[in-house]
Amino acid sequence: MEFIDLKIQFSKIENKIKESIHNVLNHGQYIMGPEVKKLEYELSRYVDAKYCVSCSSGTDALLMSLLAIGIKPGDAVITTPFTFVATAEVITLLGATPIFVDIDSKTFNINPDLIEEIILDVKKNTNLDIKAIIPVNIFGLSADYNKISGIVTKYNIRIIEDAAQSFGAKYYKEKSGSLSELSCTSFF
Ligand SMILES: Cc1ncc(COP(=O)(O)O)c(C=O)c1O
Repeated sequence: MEFIDLKIQFSKIENKIKESIHNVLNHGQYIMGPEVKKLEYELSRYVDAKYCVSCSSGTDALLMSLLAIGIKPGDAVITTPFTFVATAEVITLLGATPIFVDIDSKTFNINPDLIEEIILDVKKNTNLDIKAIIPVNIFGLSADYNKISGIVTKYNIRIIEDAAQSFGAKYYKEKSGSLSELSCTSFF
């Protein structure tokens, strides 16, 4: 038996999937069709977020979020080194500098206790302007957002949740996908 058996999943909802695909073929709106609005509505309702904007991938979602807050060369974005490459890749794509904060050995997520020390070090030793932090909820386990926001808000650092691996997860009573001002997920 396979660890993730997509064929079994498919067999359970085969008719629904085929019907939906045929609906799209019939109405012919391949771009921005009614399914897009429906998906965005359902996703935002599920995670209890005010808005949802769909795009081609989790990578683009992260890139769009960084663009939305105006990340540019000379800026720095804190993140974790233990993630899929896309998290750091999008930072460099905009000419900004990723600053890696080590992980907690129990959760494998960014260690909040190390963040402030790194912020102070970057401020003292570089000309970089730290604008954002991207915590990643690795393997479905949420990073510690209360602790993280307690530290970074006093430095005007904005939080972008990388929820690519944590759709359906919870942090206390809140759903991953709504744990920060901007949250990104993926259907990879
Ligand atoms: C933590 C994390 N961030 C971002 C991404 C990027 O998502 P996508 O593959 O949809 O571009 C992934 C994909 O696996 C991921 O695991």
